[in-house]
Amino acid sequence: MKRRAKAAAPKQAPRKRVLKTLDRALSKLGFCSRTEAEGWIRAGRVRVNGRAQTNPEAWVELGRDRIAVDNKPLFEGRKRYLLLYKPRGYLTTWRDPQGRPTVYDLLGKTCEWLFPVGRLDLDTSGLLLMTNDSEFAELITNPGYHVPKTYLVKTSTLLGDDQLAALRRGIELKDGPTRPAGVVRLRDSGGRTFLEITITEGRNRQVRRMMEAAGSQVLKLVRTAIGPVRIGRLEIGKWRELTAEEVRALRQCARRQAKRAARAESRRREPPQPV
Ligand code: URA
Repeated sequence: MKRRAKAAAPKQAPRKRVLKTLDRALSKLGFCSRTEAEGWIRAGRVRVNGRAQTNPEAWVELGRDRIAVDNKPLFEGRKRYLLLYKPRGYLTTWRDPQGRPTVYDLLGKTCEWLFPVGRLDLDTSGLLLMTNDSEFAELITNPGYHVPKTYLVKTSTLLGDDQLAALRRGIELKDGPTRPAGVVRLRDSGGRTFLEITITEGRNRQVRRMMEAAGSQVLKLVRTAIGPVRIGRLEIGKWRELTAEEVRALRQCARRQAKRAARAESRRREPPQPV
């Protein structure tokens, strides 16, 4: 009997496909709201791989399908990765119907097709990554990868050790308990607590909601790091390119965290057998 040749093990893990509906893709990439995207698509302004696509629900694969709005490709040329120090009062969207400033006002014309990697609230300042690499953005923002994000927080009241312990353990929010967080008290002064918190999720207004659940409020919130990349001495409102080493370190951090989370999950599902 003929023996079947054993399939060679793939040298690399298969590339993760990032599939989204066309309207979600445009809004997730920060170009417009989902409603605006739907209007553009129905009006025939959006092309996918050279053909007009008028169905907002059509699936597209980010990083592979070529998407263009008004014949302008969304992703051109080399991959770019910027680190911007977002000031308070700037939106992380492409345009604001109310005319408020957006992070694109800080980038200048050449960077107009980059999109933010995740969002920061209007009132949050600090480290914002911008890129045209959707696969990279997915690695950093996908909740399954657990990339740590670090924030400096000034709270409206003094927080006791028990409140900090609750934040560390995980605190109950409307959309479920938070994962364990790293929390370090930096100082107490003038009736406020200054702390550093590191979370591995990216839920909407998460840090603000965590402080509210702990019985206080955020007065100031600054993101200082994503994984191994820190904001350092960059001036507020300025940006710089990430180094190749920083991009590599971020990818590595996401993969490592994802593996760690998968191991923890399988331990949780399969408790040790009694002997
Ligand atoms: N958590 C928040 O509450 N707001 C942000 O902008 C980021 C994290």
